[in-house]
Amino acid sequence: MPETNKTYYITTPIYYPSSNLHIGHTYCTVMADAMARFKRLAGYDVMFLTGTDEHGQKIQKIAEEKGVTPQQHVDEIVSGIKELWKTMEISYDDFIRTTEPRHKRRVQEIFRRINEKGDIYKGEYEGWYCTPCEAFWTETQLADGKCPDCGRPVELAKEPAYFFRLSKYQDRLIELFEQTPEFLQPDTRRNEMLQFTKQGLEDLCISRSSFDWGIPVPIEEGQVIYVWLDALSNYITALGWPEETGKYEKYWPADVHLVGKEIVRFHTIIWPAMLMSMGLPLPKKVLSHGWLLLEGGKMSKSKGNVVDPVKLIERYGVDALKYFLLREYSFGQDGLYTNEVMLNRINADLANDLGNLVSRTVAMIEKYNGGLLAAPAPGGDGNLPPPDKSLAETASEAAAKVEAHMDRFAFNHAMEEIWNVVSRTNKYIDETAPWILAKDAADKSRLDTVLYNLAESIRIISILILPFMHTTAEEIRRQLGIAEEARWEDAFTFGRLRQTTVKRGAPLFPRIDVEKELEALEAMHATL
Ligand code: ME8
Ligand code: MG
Repeated sequence: MPETNKTYYITTPIYYPSSNLHIGHTYCTVMADAMARFKRLAGYDVMFLTGTDEHGQKIQKIAEEKGVTPQQHVDEIVSGIKELWKTMEISYDDFIRTTEPRHKRRVQEIFRRINEKGDIYKGEYEGWYCTPCEAFWTETQLADGKCPDCGRPVELAKEPAYFFRLSKYQDRLIELFEQTPEFLQPDTRRNEMLQFTKQGLEDLCISRSSFDWGIPVPIEEGQVIYVWLDALSNYITALGWPEETGKYEKYWPADVHLVGKEIVRFHTIIWPAMLMSMGLPLPKKVLSHGWLLLEGGKMSKSKGNVVDPVKLIERYGVDALKYFLLREYSFGQDGLYTNEVMLNRINADLANDLGNLVSRTVAMIEKYNGGLLAAPAPGGDGNLPPPDKSLAETASEAAAKVEAHMDRFAFNHAMEEIWNVVSRTNKYIDETAPWILAKDAADKSRLDTVLYNLAESIRIISILILPFMHTTAEEIRRQLGIAEEARWEDAFTFGRLRQTTVKRGAPLFPRIDVEKELEALEAMHATL
């Protein structure tokens, strides 16, 4: 039974519903989902939060261009995002939308509390203003000194706004980066934030009055709260803070905020400073992952060079996409996405290694034993033949190694470890050659043992892959005839499988004709 005192709170960023999500966004959510499922399997009481960041000038502008209200726009995109997570079997426990009343009133409370601490003051926001567009721009946003949207000249302008005394928290943030290395990983990012903070933090403008798609500032009409203050708050507003204390007390501080590298600054400077101001505990860890790049650079909604996860799932299935994302890339580093790498991965690891192992094993049990998998012959295992010993060791030792990799979010190494068991099991078939044993009745007992060991190893594999590709795991268990629910602790012992009747199914991962698929994917891309 899960120990209810162990809790685990993991979050993804809340995505901008500017347009549909691409495979780069799914990368972060797939990792968070894998970790959430892994922790649940290990007995933790998990809270996995995701959602959407729906306010701000950018969203308002997109809606205006489409000729719909911002609410209509976000409702449409968000329903697509929820659909995507459903298709991808993302096991989130809550989905927070920043346009929900539960979030809005709590963000206003956060503004009030920070204000009561004396950390908010009224000042003037200065920026480059484009009158026709009614938009403020920073120096770096300008395109050749002109409005990046319409290309017309801009003028330096000011609007009254509220500011957050971020500078006041500079020393405490420096101390945080220096003395709590686990707060922000990888170290390269922590050093960047440390240097950035040491150079001096300026107070932060946290309200705007030149557009209205946002949460109203509770102490003055006509101002809306800065979208990042609004967005970062989701991690506690979703827990019901401050007036519903149950979930907050149970799960806060978060165990980990997973974030892309370009939003580390917001999560490790602004967010901790907000919490410090309110006297609330800081998240235990912010983990920064890299970007999936296309040959032409970063995938981006605005560049239009995106890979649509739905198309990939339609063709290859959810588990193949999840496996690929977890296996191919190293956490914290950027990685290049190409269709070819993905297709070859699916063929080599899933269709060949795992898929064939399962189908060959089930087919042999059907052919040589009428589908009945006999329990192992009684007797001591003191003198196991070397392949049997090696197989049992490899399979029963994998779970602990997977745990160690998961502790460091090294999903790719966790996958390698599991596929090490898959390879070892395939090798066992070659070593023991069941088709030769089947020819001689005198070898029947050895044949039974070999078939049992194969099925047993696959049983362990089905548990190991459960957090990462649960549909495949369940299908394997169905084919093996295992009715009981998989438990992580059952992956540590070789020899648990009892007599079962196997049942062949469709191939887990049909082999892909890479050349043909590459052409098909290219053709789709051209129409994006
Ligand atoms: O930044 N590869 O939202 P967002 C990997 N609303 N990750 C990628 C990626 C890629 N090609 N493209 C985007 C926001 N991402 C804010 C967050 S949180 C309080 C507010 C990741 O939709 C990106 O790194 O622009 C980021 O972590 C996430 O998608 C959300 O991006
Ligand atoms: Mg972004």
